[in-house]
Amino acid sequence: MSGRLEGKSALITGSARGIGRAFAEAYLREGATVAISDIDLTRAEATAAELGDKAFAVKLDVTDQTSIDAAVAAVEARAGGIDILINNAALFDLAPIVEITRASFDKLYAVNVAGTLFTLQAVAKSMIKRGKGGKIINMASQAGRRGEALVAVYCSTKAAVISLTQSAGLDLIKHGINVNAIAPGVVDGEHWDHVDSLFAKYENRPLGEKKRLVGAEVPFGRMGTADDLTGMAVFLASAESNYVVAQTYNVDGGNWMS
Ligand SMILES: NC(=O)c1ccc[n+]([C@@H]2O[C@H](COP(=O)([O-])OP(=O)(O)OC[C@H]3O[C@@H](n4cnc5c(N)ncnc54)[C@H](O)[C@@H]3O)[C@@H](O)[C@H]2O)c1
Repeated sequence: MSGRLEGKSALITGSARGIGRAFAEAYLREGATVAISDIDLTRAEATAAELGDKAFAVKLDVTDQTSIDAAVAAVEARAGGIDILINNAALFDLAPIVEITRASFDKLYAVNVAGTLFTLQAVAKSMIKRGKGGKIINMASQAGRRGEALVAVYCSTKAAVISLTQSAGLDLIKHGINVNAIAPGVVDGEHWDHVDSLFAKYENRPLGEKKRLVGAEVPFGRMGTADDLTGMAVFLASAESNYVVAQTYNVDGGNWMS
């Protein structure tokens, strides 16, 4: 299928690379205009240039309200409004409970939780004012379904994203705004290279071993790719999901069931 997002405009946070970039490519294929927004403006601009005329770069730091408001205004000015938001930007860190620092906690909560809520809020206000409804997709994780010994902070931020998706979904559906989330499992890319290096440090493993092990444990038989997630992201942004409210979908090769 193609053209399912024809005439729609999407703002995707953290889309200079990784899963966000794959979402942008899929939305462009379906006919949308896409704002590639990221704290790394140089890379966002390079990505937008590679993706063609219907992609444009926007500087966005989701921890900064002024930056969020400016990004929303920039997308409104360029595309006439926002139909779809993907709250995709996030940070990862890892440490045993007794080594977690306040700096790490504050940074992850600022991006993964406050960043998700206040970007969602700014876009929801814009959508309500425009009166055409909209679709908001939050990036959760299998990490939000269950704690992990070394991953307390990140896991709890993603559990918060699942909870925020429920509350925002219930509150905003009266405005025709669907809020749902995607919970990926383990997805190969630069993010997991960083995760692997942290596990190597804390579990005393050679680089690459953790990645190989988590891939082998997926019931599907391998790690996910960013492209494995795009079908769900297109569905949740399209009219096909109009009756889907406040849900978090696992797209993880069978890792988690709920
Ligand atoms: N890769 C996985 O295995 C996996 C698994 C489950 C969930 N997820 C989630 O999927 C999403 C995308 O993951 P990814 O693997 O593509 O990550 P990634 O680290 O490759 O990309 C994240 C992007 O967010 C940007 N970013 C960081 N801080 C920002 C800020 N303050 N404001 C705006 N942008 C900021 C980064 O510059 C980067 O481009 C994240 O929410 C992640 O938690 C990933």
